[in-house]
Amino acid sequence: MPLYRKLDALKSARSSYKGNALGMVPTMGALHQGHLSLISRAKRESDVVWVTIFVNPTQFEKKDDLDKYPESLEADIAAIHEIKADINIFAPTAKEMYPEGLEAKVQTLGGLGNLMEGADRPGHYNGVITIVAKLFEALQPNQAYFGEKDFQQLQVIKKWGKDRHIQTRIIACPIVREANGLAMSSRNTQLSTEDRNEAGFIYQTMLKCKNKLLDKAAVYTTIKEAFSAHPNFDLLYVLCAEEDNLKEVDDLVSANKPRLFIATSVAGVRLIDNIALK
Ligand code: PAF
Repeated sequence: MPLYRKLDALKSARSSYKGNALGMVPTMGALHQGHLSLISRAKRESDVVWVTIFVNPTQFEKKDDLDKYPESLEADIAAIHEIKADINIFAPTAKEMYPEGLEAKVQTLGGLGNLMEGADRPGHYNGVITIVAKLFEALQPNQAYFGEKDFQQLQVIKKWGKDRHIQTRIIACPIVREANGLAMSSRNTQLSTEDRNEAGFIYQTMLKCKNKLLDKAAVYTTIKEAFSAHPNFDLLYVLCAEEDNLKEVDDLVSANKPRLFIATSVAGVRLIDNIALK
């Protein structure tokens, strides 16, 4: 399996592909079934697939969060190999991606970048866009696959791509869940077994809000009540917003594609999730 560490080697391999179906799956490694579903889809829809594995320091606003982020390169390579041996992997060092030091470029992301994760994690989306821009520039993918678990990230990247006239198609892929409903995330491995089992209540509560077609106030009350029954889970935010602009909606019935967003922290592990309400 082709494993690349250097941008020059990646660019030279890239230059030999002249078609228009090069698929890219950007990841920070510690791959789970959610990532593997993106890679499988990219493989089905592309002639050539590149998976990037890079824990991007500039999108972590807290050093201890970066330090404890899980890494498992050997296992990741094996899991990608299981899908198809010819998938290219790019796993650079931080020095390779940031030769001039770990700085994110300030991006104009509009309101999309300032709420929810952007508000709680200042600078996070500057870091995300900085690395996505560097990777896109080097690889020039025709299509790039992102999971809907990081829905806000997806919208921020779409907006950035549109504003900058980036030619890469941004493809959104559905959330993959554990058996109890917990959205798959590399961070789930940091949870204790008890917390991981208990965390299923988040999705079950979101589903209840969706299925009962509750109004916004009732959604917020239902979520807050559910969290008060699970006191080790801190509710960091809950928001009903329209998918496209992430603006809070007043009336879920007349709203255009309303979605419910939640962030929680349990034993220092941040979890986010979302669900379409209609
Ligand atoms: O979603 C992620 O894993 C990261 O934010 C991304 C898009 C790979 C950028 O580092």
